[in-house]
Amino acid sequence: MLKPFIEITGLTKRFPAQKGGEQLTVFENANFSIKKGEFVCIIGHSGCGKSTIMNILAGLDTPTEGGIIMGGKEISGPSLDRGVVFQNYSLLPWLSALKNVIFGVSARYPDWSRSKVIEHSQKYLEMVGLTGGAEHRKPAQLSGGMRQRVSIARAFAIRPKLLLLDEPFGALDALTRGTIQDELTRIWSGSEQTVFMITHDVDEAILLSDRILLMTNGPHARVAESVVVDIPRPRDRAEIIHKPAYYKIRNHLVEFLARRSKQLSGDRDHGGSPPITVRPGIDDADDKERRPENRPKLVSVAS
Ligand SMILES: Nc1ncnc2c1ncn2[C@@H]1O[C@H](COP(=O)(O)OP(=O)(O)O)[C@@H](O)[C@H]1O
Ligand SMILES: [Mg+2]
Repeated sequence: MLKPFIEITGLTKRFPAQKGGEQLTVFENANFSIKKGEFVCIIGHSGCGKSTIMNILAGLDTPTEGGIIMGGKEISGPSLDRGVVFQNYSLLPWLSALKNVIFGVSARYPDWSRSKVIEHSQKYLEMVGLTGGAEHRKPAQLSGGMRQRVSIARAFAIRPKLLLLDEPFGALDALTRGTIQDELTRIWSGSEQTVFMITHDVDEAILLSDRILLMTNGPHARVAESVVVDIPRPRDRAEIIHKPAYYKIRNHLVEFLARRSKQLSGDRDHGGSPPITVRPGIDDADDKERRPENRPKLVSVAS
């Protein structure tokens, strides 16, 4: 069988005890994998360790135990193969929006001419709707939503093999969010990119992803389920909501977040088993039999 693109093995993160407190085990012995080209979302309540997993994937934090292999190599330190959009945007405050993007692009493509770098950077800023002079402003002179868009443009523009997105659309109004979600889908589907995205928006997760990982509440959180989103692409945000599979998946996610994330929390006896795969979108056998077209035909005997 083909090896997965990303293999997460025995991943554990503990933070040392604060004064008077206990050591905090965020998650312990997490095992899961991601295929090349997959779009995976991860959902879980605040504090369960989503950003910590992402920071380890980005190479900006190290696990206490275990490790991550990407493309056959152990992740150690950041790389331009992995582009990140952080929860708090983290732009360089002394550079304009455009120069923030240029900074990443010229590091990624050192052989490109200056004009090609600028043109490429501008294209991505346009894509997120940052034009008309806003691209020359510094982060402090931009709104939160605009800063987030610069951060998105910078990550997309370096076209990383793995795109890591930490609640990237949270500060955007609904209209801009929709546009940028569509751009993300377009960029991803025309590439070999793999996307790992944290979101708290279940509708966004269903619209965008192939698979949704569900985390239980921390401490001792774990990735309990891998929910397959088997809704064909391209997906249209107005049409998808009319599909029966959409509601089955949505209900499953909401149920998990409202109840099971808490019931399953603190489970320390999972033995590192990988998340169970769930396909709420597919009719189970009972369901199929109940559907009118599958009921045994009544043969008329009376005459
Ligand atoms: N540097 C740190 N030192 C101590 N505790 C931390 C540190 N960073 C995160 N934590 C704790 O680890 C847990 C997981 O944090 P985080 O990964 O940010 O969660 P999420 O992104 O799911 O909201 C939280 O309880 C948080 O308080
Ligand atoms: Mg977070």
